[in-house]
Formats: sequence, structure tokens, C-alpha cells
Amino acid sequence: MSAFQQRITLSEAEVIWQRSREAGLLSDRTRSLLVHDLDRMRSRIAILQEVFPSHTLHALAIKANPLVEILREAVNVGAGLEAASIEEAHLALAAECPAERIVFDSPAKTMEEIAEALELGIVLNADNFAELRRIDQLIKQISTRTTLIGLRINPEVGAGTISHTSVGQAGSKFGAPLSTTRSEIIGAFRRYDWLNGVHVHVGSQGCSLDLLARAASRIDELRRELEGTTGRPLAFVDIGGGLPTLYREQQSAPTPQEYVTRLKQEAPELMSSDRLLITEFGRAIQAGCGVALSRVEFVRPEQRMAVIHLGADFLLRPVYRPEDWFHEFFVLDAQGRRKSGTLAPLTITGPLCFSGDIIARDVILPPVDEGDWIVIRDTGAYTLGMWSHHCSRSIPGVVGYDATSPRQVRLLRAAETASDVVRFWSGPRPADVDK
Ligand SMILES: Cc1ncc(COP(=O)(O)O)c(C=O)c1O
Repeated sequence: MSAFQQRITLSEAEVIWQRSREAGLLSDRTRSLLVHDLDRMRSRIAILQEVFPSHTLHALAIKANPLVEILREAVNVGAGLEAASIEEAHLALAAECPAERIVFDSPAKTMEEIAEALELGIVLNADNFAELRRIDQLIKQISTRTTLIGLRINPEVGAGTISHTSVGQAGSKFGAPLSTTRSEIIGAFRRYDWLNGVHVHVGSQGCSLDLLARAASRIDELRRELEGTTGRPLAFVDIGGGLPTLYREQQSAPTPQEYVTRLKQEAPELMSSDRLLITEFGRAIQAGCGVALSRVEFVRPEQRMAVIHLGADFLLRPVYRPEDWFHEFFVLDAQGRRKSGTLAPLTITGPLCFSGDIIARDVILPPVDEGDWIVIRDTGAYTLGMWSHHCSRSIPGVVGYDATSPRQVRLLRAAETASDVVRFWSGPRPADVDK
């Protein structure tokens, strides 16, 4: 397994548990604790920076993990951030990301949001022709700091293996479809002299290198055609995210080095020129940096079932689409030490009040007892960021683990309290309304 894909091991989970306990971040009353390995994340970003050409901006997809302290660590080592909403752009600013390293990609930008992005100097990728018309109108009216504005193209290379996260097939809701709107795309680049980039993103997990490289090749070919017809060079090509990651020990996933090799074959000019190249990886960086520890509240031996404190609130996709998504598990005892004993199948259920709240069925694990801890692997992406308030359970605390720092663990986000939840669901009090 390549260094990029090293996942958090059982021994590391034991260390994380112990350090969190010593630091007072995990107590007998803790129901769950989410952990992000910051050093691992920095190493993964460093590998990207090493294997991609030096003219690449790696704008990490904020939606994969929106915690400001995690974003800040990524920004500190030179990453940019990709925002799927104006709110995510604000998270990037809160993480002190320079505006020119923030890429704003929402498919539903309002006039106000576009104006704000232009004034801030954020890189903008328009999703469609109507958005281009809005940008044109605003550019004539306001003072804009943004110098990089692209158009998202749907390269129509087909879907990956997971349908609901595939977006590069014909009929997808994103981008200008290449086969049917090629002349409009060319017309837009002729009409708008501020339009100087092309953007593509084909999906998240389930996309092969073939699919990713074919999409990059198609937009680089389009870039050449646009430069030929307009007579002006484009300033950037954004190839999106979508590099798959490992969720199983026995699985294989392409490395960034393999991706770069394919890109050099399929889109050589993209890699060799000095033109800015943007990537928007989320999952491949973040998923393997996270583990979630959740206390076993009950064991129901008659049903070979354990009830823990994380379910569909945290793992939306695995619970609702178990045919597509999967996690591996470890078991620690009440003192944070690995369990041993005869392996047997166990169904792990969440705490929510509906019958489908099952994280995994028939997982082969050592004996599990009340008070043990289930460690869910690879939870660093598309988990906390998709938190569901169904049943109003509070969001657990998040700890940053950094094997290279003297303290090793630090709090990245405090656990919510019951009062926080009440506040979340409360309307303004009469006194506030009167203000
Ligand atoms: C536009 C865009 N860029 C980047 C990403 C990140 O994808 P991944 O986390 O699979 O790298 C997404 C995720 O859906 C996306 O929609």
C-alpha cells in the first residue's frame, strides 16, 4: 500500500483513545468522539504537491470535511479550498485561506453571492450559461477583484459505479453538456473576455482513472479549441476531485502518482505547460484521516446486535445506501485496549428511532461487551459534514490527532450539549422578535 493510502490502524486507534483520555477529551460520559489525524492529512497534501506539477493549486473540497481547524491546517501547508456554497467560502475565509486560493463552485449561486465572490477575489466556476450572464452583468456594475472565472463543462464521459455521486454522464444536473452545447460554449468564450478557465468534475468515489483521465482529456481538448477560436490563452483548467479512496483493507485504489501518469498520457499539455491547474480532491485526502469512536451502550446477544451512539445521523450514505458505501471496524475495551477472543458476526446499530438505522450487518469482530468502544474507520470525509439532526442528538466533539506534536491530541470542535440542540431548534423569543 502506498504512503498516501495508509489508514489509521488498530494500534493507532488505541493510542488515540489513551491520549484523548489523558487529555480529558474522552471520559466515562463520552458517547462518541470523532478524530481527525492532522499529520496524516498534511502528508497526503504533501504527496499531491510532490507528484503534481508545481503550477497546481490543490483546492480541497470543503464539503468533505468543513471543520475550520482542519481547513486551517490544510491552508497552512499550501492547500486551497473548494467551496460548494457561499457559506463554505466563508468557512475558507475563517480558516484564513487567501481569497485567490478559494474556488467557488455552487450550482445555485444568487446574484448577491456572485457579487460577494467577485468583490472578495475568489476564483469562480460558473455552472451554466445563465450564471455567465449574471457574472457579466455584475462585472459591469461592481469593482471585481476576481481574475479567474471558469465555466463548468459536463464532459459526458459516463457514470462511475455509484450512480448518485456520478455527475459526468449525459443528463447530469451540472455544467454545460459538451456534446449538445459545444457551439454555445465557444460563443460564450468569444463573447466574454473575462471568461478564462474550464472546469470539470465527474463524481466522487466509484470513478476509475480511465473516467477521470478521459474527462481531463476532453476539457483540455476543448481548451485548445477555445484558445484557437478566441485567440486568447485560458488562464486555468480545473479537473475537479473524484480520486477514489480505500475503505477496505483488501481493496485497491489509484495513487496520485498513478493519476498523474495517466494525465500525462491523456492530457499531456495540461501537465507540461505553466498554465494554472486546479484540483478539488476531498475524499482521497480526508476519508482515511478520520476515525470515529462510539461507546457500546447495549449488547443484545439474542440478535447478535450492538447499539452504539452513531448511526444515520453521522453515516447517512452507508445507512441509506449500504449497497454503495462501507466501513471497517475495530473493537476496544472500556479501557481503550484492543479486544481479543473468538470472532463472530455482529450487527452494529445506531441510536436513532427508525428500524433502518443499521450501520453494518454481520461484521466479524471479537466479542463485544457493554462499555466497549466501536472504532469506525475512514470517517474523515462526508460524515460530520453531512450530519443529520433526525432525533436531535448532539454532535460529538472532534479531536485532532497529531503524532508529531508533543500533546498529540487537541480539541478541534467541542461536543454539543443538550442546550446547544435546544438553541438550534428554537425560534426567536418574544423579546428577541421585538428588537
Ligand atoms: C465540484 C466538486 N469538486 C470536488 C468534489 C470532491 O470530490 P471528492 O471528494 O470525491 O474528491 C466534489 C464532490 O462531490 C464536487 O462536487
